[in-house]
Amino acid sequence: MAHSPSGDQLLSRRSQVEPFHAMDILAQANIRRNEGADIAYLCVGQPAASAPKSARDAVCELLRSGSIGYTDAGGRQDLRRAIATHNKTSYGVDIDPDRIFVTTGSSAGFNLAFLSLFNPGDRVAIASPGYPAYRNILKALSLEVVEIETSAEDRWAITLESLTKIHKEGHLNGILVASPANPTGTMMKPETLKALVNTSRELGIRFISDEIYHGLTYGTETGINETTALEFDDDVIVINSFSKYFCMTGWRIGWMVLPPNMVRPIERLAQSLYISPPEISQVAALHALGSLEELEKIKEGYEINRRLLLNRLPELGFDNIAPIDGAFYAYAEATRHTNDTMEFAKRMLAEADVAATPGLDFDQERGHRFMRFSFAGDHATMVTALDRIEDWLK
Ligand SMILES: Cc1ncc(COP(=O)(O)O)c(C=O)c1O
Repeated sequence: MAHSPSGDQLLSRRSQVEPFHAMDILAQANIRRNEGADIAYLCVGQPAASAPKSARDAVCELLRSGSIGYTDAGGRQDLRRAIATHNKTSYGVDIDPDRIFVTTGSSAGFNLAFLSLFNPGDRVAIASPGYPAYRNILKALSLEVVEIETSAEDRWAITLESLTKIHKEGHLNGILVASPANPTGTMMKPETLKALVNTSRELGIRFISDEIYHGLTYGTETGINETTALEFDDDVIVINSFSKYFCMTGWRIGWMVLPPNMVRPIERLAQSLYISPPEISQVAALHALGSLEELEKIKEGYEINRRLLLNRLPELGFDNIAPIDGAFYAYAEATRHTNDTMEFAKRMLAEADVAATPGLDFDQERGHRFMRFSFAGDHATMVTALDRIEDWLK
């Protein structure tokens, strides 16, 4: 009788991606919470604040009308126009609304961008440390992930030198950067971003800019202005989202800005992969774009949390915090306490009821020395978490 394959043999090689450890810590934290523990959550990049009120009100209205359906694969025209206007007010860059493509969170944007730009085996560069889903999505699509190690000296950003060196070693088909970045929160200086965009174009490397943390920058203090890659080249792919600045993680809604010749190919893929982004979330997003005053107030809260972490983490033995130019993370060295932050994070959760993320998610080589603390929660949670960590480390 023929031997039938079983278990792992039936799974594809490309499904063998690393777990997202932050989500695993979150799952553990949720188990403890369901058992009655009062957990301080600093492990995920999720705003404690709700989506803007006008967005929630509009959705209540829509629910009453009952008419919620498929939309164009690239999103409703009114939302695309509003995003184009938002681009103009944020950066002074004019974008034809037809180049805006609305997606089911930026996560769907990555799938669509990678699928439309690259063939299996193509090489795509990302920064290490960096957001782990980049690595995992690229691998799942049978692309070669080229991780470029970054350092504190270079603000944890890919430099022109490292890009050209790696490209000489083997042709790169794409590069993906984020500024502000996750987990470090650091931003590239506009001239660094410009140099990377220009050189990538000259070398035939497709440039993808993840601008999900735009809006959440603390420019007055850092002196680095928020800059979109679109200022330097129309041929880049910009990926953005309503998850972070707009406080809409669970609504799963984001957008891309595409070069004109990519709109139709992406539309064809999106029609089959997603049909359309959720209409209810599109309506909410449209109203969120008109709620910047409310969102700026929420950002003021992050600024206070940021200052608290910058003051207290070093007192608690967490060193060399990456400059928090933007986003809502403090990425710090924990070597005064441990050389195994995965074990440390698990113990912190079990013994101090504080959930934070070990660096291994973001950097497989050096992450065991780092912890990431998210300050997207409310201020009371930050204070409680830091007090608990202090008591626990005594
Ligand atoms: C850098 C970065 N890009 C993209 C995402 C995905 O966001 P979403 O799919 O909610 O838009 C995240 C989520 O944490 C992130 O940190």
